[in-house]
Formats: sequence, structure tokens, C-alpha cells
Amino acid sequence: AYNSESDDERCQFPTFTEAVRKHANWDELKTKKNHQFLFDINAPHSLPPYPLIFSDKWDSDHVRMPFSPSNILKKKGASSSGPGFKTQIVDGVKRLVGYEKGSPEPKPEPVQKGRWTEVLDGIGNLEGFDRVAIFSADDLLKNIQKYNPQVKDVTLLESYFRQNPEKKPRFFNRILPKMRKMVANADKVLTQAPQLLKKLHTQGERTIWMTQEQCAHLLVLSFFCCWPKRSGKRSARNKEDEYDRFNEINFTRFFSLQPSPSCFAKLECIIEYFNSVTKEMPKGVISFKRTYEEQIPNLDDPDIEFADAKWMPCHIKGKGLIEDEGDKFIQADFANKFIGGGTLGRGCVQEEIRFMICPELIITQLLCEEMQKEEAIIVTGVQRFSNYSGYADSFRFEGSYNDPLAVSYKRDCYGRIPTEVFAIDAVNYVYPYRGDTPHDQFSATSIKRDILKAYSAFKGCTPATIATGNWGCGAFGGDPELKFVIQMIAAAFAQRPLWYFCFDDLMTRSDAKLSSTLAEIKCSIEKKSIPYVFELLTEFEPGREKFSEYLKKNDPEPTPGTDYTMSIIPFPTYYDACPKTSDWEKVLETD
Ligand code: AR6
Repeated sequence: AYNSESDDERCQFPTFTEAVRKHANWDELKTKKNHQFLFDINAPHSLPPYPLIFSDKWDSDHVRMPFSPSNILKKKGASSSGPGFKTQIVDGVKRLVGYEKGSPEPKPEPVQKGRWTEVLDGIGNLEGFDRVAIFSADDLLKNIQKYNPQVKDVTLLESYFRQNPEKKPRFFNRILPKMRKMVANADKVLTQAPQLLKKLHTQGERTIWMTQEQCAHLLVLSFFCCWPKRSGKRSARNKEDEYDRFNEINFTRFFSLQPSPSCFAKLECIIEYFNSVTKEMPKGVISFKRTYEEQIPNLDDPDIEFADAKWMPCHIKGKGLIEDEGDKFIQADFANKFIGGGTLGRGCVQEEIRFMICPELIITQLLCEEMQKEEAIIVTGVQRFSNYSGYADSFRFEGSYNDPLAVSYKRDCYGRIPTEVFAIDAVNYVYPYRGDTPHDQFSATSIKRDILKAYSAFKGCTPATIATGNWGCGAFGGDPELKFVIQMIAAAFAQRPLWYFCFDDLMTRSDAKLSSTLAEIKCSIEKKSIPYVFELLTEFEPGREKFSEYLKKNDPEPTPGTDYTMSIIPFPTYYDACPKTSDWEKVLETD
């Protein structure tokens, strides 16, 4: 009955490259207000930073840059004036020598100091590499503490190098000095403050464009914990904090993690990234977009809304990973609403692993405020740097990854590597979290929330095939059968074909035959109309049986709207449509 291969014949499953190149148009982008470019798009051959000299924006709508003159480090120190002070002129300078008897002891007043000066004196001292020697985790800690006292320890680094002393020279003598040079250069590479990607209902859809080199400089500032007001674990902060609704971005917590093989593996991925970019800086462009669909379908009236929607082809994969076999398609990140989740903490599941092997994704944590209901974040152009094996506690670094998509001729006409990742956050049903129990996911409200979120993401991506899977069904305890149908409906709405990765069937211990169950569901729902399936979903009462069993019981019924036929999707390829001599192609020829 079920034969997913037949989908291959009916649908070309267009790749990202085929779809994006058709849509590339710098001139159109230039005129749009909701795009910010950190480089000069009028000089696409060299992509110099824009503007030439750092122009500061120190406010709550922009990333507060570490080298901003407004980045002040308040240090406790005694003030040298006020009632009760005894002063003397020594060498022509008025100095505090004591207090008048009986007067109250003066309170120390904060002394204001430019924090960037401290960073440069320690980490970024270009001439003084010998004077400020950093040859151990402890040296690094001492220097970071000069400007960021929130960094209390570097346990993870320390124990990693204690257990692997042979790795020390490579990191401390070869990679770290080059990273320090990047810090010293950061204000020349990053000459404007990126806008923050805040909640969209306050500002509308927005995209930030930067070069991979700029991204590397932002990340090196994270490594050295330079971001002001951004230290600390979210749960340890309070609502008053300006960045309470953002994930962490300094490596403060990461460095202090208790040692474990999977945390060591995460550290090795980060070292591999810096090793690679300091050896040869990648040349491409990355875009970070926060999106939502303004024209959200009205799911309260599915008969009308779904009337024209058609199921899209879906290829179910029992084995394989989104980032491997799905790498030519638009790829899902099963995200936390604070994008990145536990990347800089202990987390080590799909999102964290993805961020570790593609560290440029970590920059979303710098830019993006907590995701709202109907929002998604789409990042295009990220490169993969590491190989890995295992999952969660068994996660291990397996050496460098030479990303085959990073070669110049494969980039899109904006210079982006043809890798597009979209982040969508599911609701956590594992603990009674905000009062949500596992049964709540079957409520009409929850189903609608998830359809609209997936729809926004699918629609906001470049129109090509979506590679997804058990979204929200691991750490967040969702039901894979339900999430599969939800994503089929969202794909129908957005008119996107799917490649659905069941993860390794052997690893989904609770349901060893997920791919065949989903294939049966697919067969069954494709014979029904979308409004009818939606109705079945919302009427289903979880607990007694699984959705697949319930669906089987409903199968014999005559199904409304069975005149549906699978559509063939004629996505033209990029190569047919792209302008033959775009600026980018000239750049790439010389690459
Ligand atoms: N390719 C395909 N499928 C995968 C892959 C992969 N590379 N990795 C995992 N899966 P999970 P969630 C499947 O638990 O439940 C993070 O901390 C596998 O079946 O990562 O949405 C975030 O930051 C797995 O069980 O996502 C959030 O805080 C399922 O996808 C939270 O986890 C879900 O992966 C999100 O939890």
C-alpha cells in the first residue's frame, strides 16, 4: 500500500539552491527598510564592513557593542572629595590622606572606566602577547575577570586540558593568539551595532545580513565573555534585566560546566570552529531573519480556510539525519523559545548539537528575543565545521567537517552557503510546565498553535522542500504521530513538500516502528480532506488509544473531498532562472 518512493516520481523535491537563486535580487533588497547589512553591499567583491569607521548605537534596539564608548566598567574605589576628607597636595596633585576625626566614613563611589580598554589590555593586546601570556585556562580566567567579574571559574576548560595535556600547545600557542588578534580587530570588522530581532508585533519582519568573518568576530567576543549586560544563566537573572527575554551569549556558563565527555565534545566543536576560521576565514554571507506570516489561516473556520489546500508530497525516512541526508533542503531546528536552548549550558540534543557543529547559529542567541507564538527564525548561509557521533550523553566530536556546500560555486547569488535552517519552538509537555500536561497537546488550541507556527516557518523559508522530523517529541515530550499530522497540514497550507526524518528508528526506543506507523497515517490522511483530518485531530481524545489506531477506526467511513489528487510541483531550478552574470558570480570566479 504505502510506497513513499512514488512521491519521488511525482515531486522533484527541489533543493534549496534551486529555489533561492531564482529569487535573488540585491537591488530589491537595498530598497527595503527591514534589512540591515553590516557590510557594504555596493562592493560585493570585497564585502568591506559598513560604515568604514565604527558608528555606535547604544540603545535597547541594538546589540550593545563591547567597544562602544558607553560600555563602562564600574569599579569600586574611594572618592577623593566630600565632607570629612583630609587631603594634601603631593607632587602637585591633590591626594586623599585620611578622614577628619568624628566624621562618617566615606562610602566608596564607583570609578568609571571604559571596559574595552581593559579587554584590549588583557586579551586583545597585540604587541604584548609576551607581557600578557595566556598559556593556561587559569591565565585566561584571570584576564577575563579584569573586565567581566561574572566569570567565576573555567572548570570545563581546566579539566579538559588537564585530561588532555597534549592538546594544550595547539590551542594556547596556535589558536588562541589568533583569536586574541580577532578581538583586537573587532571594532574594525564590526562597524555598526546589529539591530536586535525583537518580537515582531512591535517591529515587523526583519533580516540582519553579515559576512561569515563578522560572525566569527561576534563569536570570538562571546568566547572571551565581552558582551556587556549579557552574562549569566537565564534562570539566575531577574525580570528587571534588560536581556531577561534573551538567551545567554557570553561563554560564562559554558566554561564553568562540570566536566563530562559530552561537554568536552562540545568544547572540541568550538575549538574546531576557531581553529578553522583562524586558519582560513570563510568568505560568505549569512542572513538572520525573524519572521511571521501576516496572513495566518483562520483555523476556527477550517472548512473555508482549507477548502483549496492540497496535501503535499511527503517522503518518510526511517533512518538518517536532517543535517546529513536533508542537507540540500530547508532544515528544521527543534528549538527552544529562547533560541539555542542549552547550547552554552549542558543541553545536548538536536538544537544544541546543530549549534555546536554550525557555531555561526549561536549568533541567533545574541540577536533574538524569545520567540512568540507565530514566529520563526530563519538563518541562511551557515557552514558546518564538525563531525560528530552519538546523541545527548553519548555525543562525541569526530574531527573536522569539510562542508561540501561551502565551495564557492555552490553559494547562492548573495554569497550564502546553500544551507537554510529554520527554528521553531514546540511547547514543553514533559513536566507540568505552565500547567501543560501531555494530554493538553491534543487540545484544539495547542494543535492550532503548532500548525500556525510550522506554517509561518515553512512559508517564511525559501520555497523548497522542508526537511523536518519529530519536532517537540524528545526533550519536550510531544507525540510524534500528532506532530507529523500537524506538519503535514502546515506543509499543505504553505505548499511545501516534506522530507520527514523519523530519526534512527532504533534510537526512538519508545516506538521502534515509527516510520511504518507514520507511513500508514500518511496513506490514511491523504485519502481524506484536510478539514476532515483537522476535525479528527481536534476530536481525538488521548489516553485510551493512539492517534494512528483512532484513525484506522475512522478509515472505512466515506471521506468528504476524496477527489483530491497529488499535485506535481513545478519549482523551476535556479540554473534556469538566475541572471548569468551577477556580481556574485564574478566574486566567486576569483574565489
Ligand atoms: N535529525 C532528525 N531527527 C532528529 C535529530 C536529527 N539530527 N536529532 C533529534 N531528532 P529534541 P524537542 C529527533 O529533543 O523535543 C533542546 O534543548 C529525535 O527523534 O532535540 O523539540 C531545545 O533547545 C528527537 O527525539 O527536540 C529545546 O529546549 C526529536 O527529533 C528542546 O530541546 C526531538 O528532538 C526542544 O525539544
